[in-house]
Amino acid sequence: MSLKWATELDIPTIIHKHGKPITLPHLLSALNLPPSKTWVVPRFMRFLVYHGLFAIVRVHDYDDKEEEKEAYALTPTSELLVEGTNHCLTPFVKCHLHDREMFGAGLRMGEWIRGEERSVLETAFGVGFWDLIHQSNPGRMSVFNEGMASDSQMVNLALKDCKSVFEGIESVVDVGGGNGATAKIICEAFPELKFIVFDLPPVVADLRGSHNLTYVGGDMFQSIPQAHAVLLKEYIG
Ligand SMILES: C[S@@+](CC[C@H](N)C(=O)[O-])C[C@H]1O[C@@H](n2cnc3c(N)ncnc32)[C@H](O)[C@@H]1O
Repeated sequence: MSLKWATELDIPTIIHKHGKPITLPHLLSALNLPPSKTWVVPRFMRFLVYHGLFAIVRVHDYDDKEEEKEAYALTPTSELLVEGTNHCLTPFVKCHLHDREMFGAGLRMGEWIRGEERSVLETAFGVGFWDLIHQSNPGRMSVFNEGMASDSQMVNLALKDCKSVFEGIESVVDVGGGNGATAKIICEAFPELKFIVFDLPPVVADLRGSHNLTYVGGDMFQSIPQAHAVLLKEYIG
């Protein structure tokens, strides 16, 4: 919840734009919160520092060069939550933390552990995760896909140093490849590669491929299209 809070308030981006570690008074002035709520900020920040989201560093006071003060700095983790970069994972955080109903299901763990359902979502909603994402609420699917797509941008970073992974491969099937965000990045880097994105029919139904990218709908537990290599990224059962 604190992570959600920090991303909603855009704190990583505020620190980034500040250009150096930010003291509490400067952070509060950037946040512009009601005065009755400002006491919350150092508490939540301390919790997030403990978990490695931010770091507390000592800086010289901006006005009084002699005096040292504490300030919040970005860590490698929160660098990934700065908006406007090509590796911003904020949509990924949002897709996991935005859904009140799904969170509410967590309150039924005791009931789930005594029952026969495979997941606590089945206990709460009568259907599993993918049915819930794809069928019950169209908004859920787009938030989820955006989250996955933002995570896929990380493939850009991986491709920089690991291009050799795809050398000598003629075709790839990305099983559970979602809306093809990962596929598009790889297809652009390797125009000769034949790439298939395989996902559940409702996910790929309206998606259009390109000369080297094809979308195929189906259930991976029945069969998957043939290819030289199989890519499985971020598959949670
Ligand atoms: C966590 S998402 C990962 C998406 C993508 N690989 C990525 O990294 O962005 C898992 C994907 O698996 C798909 N999926 C779930 N069950 C499946 C099944 N039985 N057959 C094919 N795809 C499935 C979901 O629709 C979803 O798009």
